[in-house]
Amino acid sequence: MVKIAPSILSADFARMGEQVAEAVDGGADYIHIDVMDGRFVPPITFGAHMVEAIKRHAGRVPLDVHLMIHEPSRLVPELVDAGADLLVVHAEACEDLGGTVSAVKGRGAKVGVAIRPDSSVDVFLPLLGDIDLVLVMSVNPGWSAQKYIAEVEGKVVALRRLIDERGLATELEMDGGINEGTAPRAASAGANVLVAGSAVFGQSLPVAERIVAIRRAAGVVES
Ligand code: DX5
Ligand code: ZN
Repeated sequence: MVKIAPSILSADFARMGEQVAEAVDGGADYIHIDVMDGRFVPPITFGAHMVEAIKRHAGRVPLDVHLMIHEPSRLVPELVDAGADLLVVHAEACEDLGGTVSAVKGRGAKVGVAIRPDSSVDVFLPLLGDIDLVLVMSVNPGWSAQKYIAEVEGKVVALRRLIDERGLATELEMDGGINEGTAPRAASAGANVLVAGSAVFGQSLPVAERIVAIRRAAGVVES
């Protein structure tokens, strides 16, 4: 079954604890936390203090921390200590991607590598067996509620083939513009973790219902 990772970037920040608890109750598989530094992407969001606060409301649901920051290795220790279970770094943001991956693993967290929609999947070729998750962005990183870029599906198909051919358990995540309309496409391309921000939070329906609806839609795989 496809996993759903609600992105708290679209939550009501003044009610963060409640919103995270609603996502947990709704069956979220991860809580997705977008850390932005104003450099790798223009906005600034939050860091280790927010991760620590969310951890207290997430129960057993692991925190998937998406680092849209330049040279993320400097923040690895404090984020892992704050409770990040999985740290996802952008390939484009790291001078030494292999070293950054090792730093995360060395600190005891799971590690993922993300690419922007226009980046090549080639960066994953030497790394695939060493990482826990690959993330293909389906919007340009930085903001929620953008339009899904369907052209990235080819990269997801290629990565799914590589992962399966090599018999790896690497998770394949997509992030950006996921809703009931796009989730079936993402799942049929081969993604098994779908991040959803604006389609989960900030809607008139309860968060739990939104998660169920997206997961159900993802199960209706297009041919
Ligand atoms: C964007 C973030 C996403 C964002 C997704 O840079 O990485 O996680 O919250 O938001 P939606 O689902 O609204 O596109
Ligand atoms: Zn994200």
